[in-house]
Amino acid sequence: MSSETQNVPRHVAIILDGNGRWARERGLPRTAGHKEGCRAVEQTVEDAARLGIEYLTVYAFSTENWKRSAEEVSALMQLFRYYAKRLLVIAKKNNVRVKMIGERSAFAQDLQDAIRALEEETAQNTGLTFLFAVNYGGRDEIVRAVRRIGAECAQGMTAPADITEDVIAAHLDTAGVPDPDLLIRTSGEQRLSNFLLWQLAYAEFYFTDIYWPDFDRQELERAIAYYNGRDRRYGGVKDV
Ligand code: FPP
Repeated sequence: MSSETQNVPRHVAIILDGNGRWARERGLPRTAGHKEGCRAVEQTVEDAARLGIEYLTVYAFSTENWKRSAEEVSALMQLFRYYAKRLLVIAKKNNVRVKMIGERSAFAQDLQDAIRALEEETAQNTGLTFLFAVNYGGRDEIVRAVRRIGAECAQGMTAPADITEDVIAAHLDTAGVPDPDLLIRTSGEQRLSNFLLWQLAYAEFYFTDIYWPDFDRQELERAIAYYNGRDRRYGGVKDV
């Protein structure tokens, strides 16, 4: 089935995995895998925009990724620095709005400034919204949201009885963004790894064995075809 005849999911979320193994299989340093991983992200942003996907969220760096070697973390920060500028060019060219989710205060000031510029300079774009999750953890996001709701309760702005699912969703980093319809994870792993724990409640999951640097438009279309074959009921019963 071609993408034109398919029902394109509104929001696609991706756990990109396998950069390290991609590099090892080629006898290259892990950083080479991350560089190729960044290239694949860039390509996927363009592909998603062309396919008419409205929201694309990728998991680029988790709250747990700080445990990697100092050398790898530092190389990743350098790559993010470079890509923050590169993504600005890609976003402008493709009418993409870019937003970061996660806890940004842990990053060096110049990287925070680059991310802020990327968000501000693309805020008026009307095509795909690209969210990249860095220093992101689903539980951490929920804790931060609950703290803010708690503070609002303490100030008398909200009553505990008025806290609904919508109130919680509005305090998450993804406030205003519809929940993902489709989650893709590469490299054969089948875990959530603390990604969008609240938002993925009703998503369809697609797992592929290929490593993230090899992910391409064909693979994205394959995931969409899989999504089209699913029967989404949100806990209800399908009409017969
Ligand atoms: C996944 O492979 C890699 C990461 C989770 C960290 C780095 C992500 C990128 C470089 C993508 C860049 C994103 C943007 C927004 C530009 P892994 O290292 O976990 O692979 P392995 O499991 O094979 O070791």
